[in-house]
Amino acid sequence: MASLLLLLLLSLLSTTTASSAAYPTIPGTMDTSFPASKDSKLIPIRREVYGDGRIFDITHRYTSDMPSMGSENGLGQFLRLPESMKNGSFANISEMKLITHTGTHVDAPGHYYDHYFDAGFDVDTLDLEVLNGPGLLIDVPRGTNITAEVMKSLHIPKGVRRVLFRTENTDRRLMFKKQSDTSFVGFTTDGAKWLVDNTDIKLIGIDYLAVAAWSDLVPAHLVLFGKQGNHHCGRPKTR
Ligand SMILES: *[C@@H]1O[C@H](CO)[C@@H](O)[C@H](O)[C@H]1NC(C)=O
Ligand SMILES: *[C@@H]1O[C@H](CO)[C@@H](O)[C@H](O)[C@H]1NC(C)=O
Ligand SMILES: *[C@@H]1O[C@H](CO)[C@@H](O)[C@H](O)[C@H]1NC(C)=O
Repeated sequence: MASLLLLLLLSLLSTTTASSAAYPTIPGTMDTSFPASKDSKLIPIRREVYGDGRIFDITHRYTSDMPSMGSENGLGQFLRLPESMKNGSFANISEMKLITHTGTHVDAPGHYYDHYFDAGFDVDTLDLEVLNGPGLLIDVPRGTNITAEVMKSLHIPKGVRRVLFRTENTDRRLMFKKQSDTSFVGFTTDGAKWLVDNTDIKLIGIDYLAVAAWSDLVPAHLVLFGKQGNHHCGRPKTR
């Protein structure tokens, strides 16, 4: 009955505040006030750490070179500017078109259970209490997928509900290679089963496009989503 959220790319964040002045500046980037005068050089700040390390934004930036499952050439063009100020529009308005399984994402229950899909179990049905809060970042042994044996060896304490698994996918920088790669590390079916049966984990994050190893893609997802109720899945990213 476990409602399992696999969030692979998850942002383990709680609240973000609206005031930009409070954010720390990443070392090496310049603080730039906005709006700046027309001729000053504008340098966007990509903020990733908030509240003195209380919140980390671990989402991947969408780029046309990021990997997309099954694509040799990455995501490709997904962004255009239908309204542009250089074109005489009063504002710049961008349009995005991309599959929802791109970059840092969370799997919806309907991803692997068609009756959930038909019943409308999309990401809005995920429990924010599960999606937000402290998480454990754990390194898994290299040279293996996440099997029952690996899960057992990790000794993840009872009570831990959110875990990000860092694997050799990160060492191989797979999320930064445009060619999609089916040799990524993920959960095997027995690893997924072990997790469901022996831990309190409700949210899983992993460092590539799918939580389950390619060879076990469907059965491992089915185990993690569970047989009934309100289960969810996602995917992770790690830098
Ligand atoms: C400018 O206007 C044309 C015609 O409406 C449009 O096709 C184009 O995408 C617009 N944007 C840019 C950046 O040129
Ligand atoms: C607005 O769109 C133009 C392209 O027409 C682009 O050069 C400019 O950087 C955009 N401005 C902003 C604020 O995004
Ligand atoms: C993990 O499983 C995939 C098949 O899904 C395989 O290609 C890969 O070599 C395995 N990785 C390791 C480290 O065993």
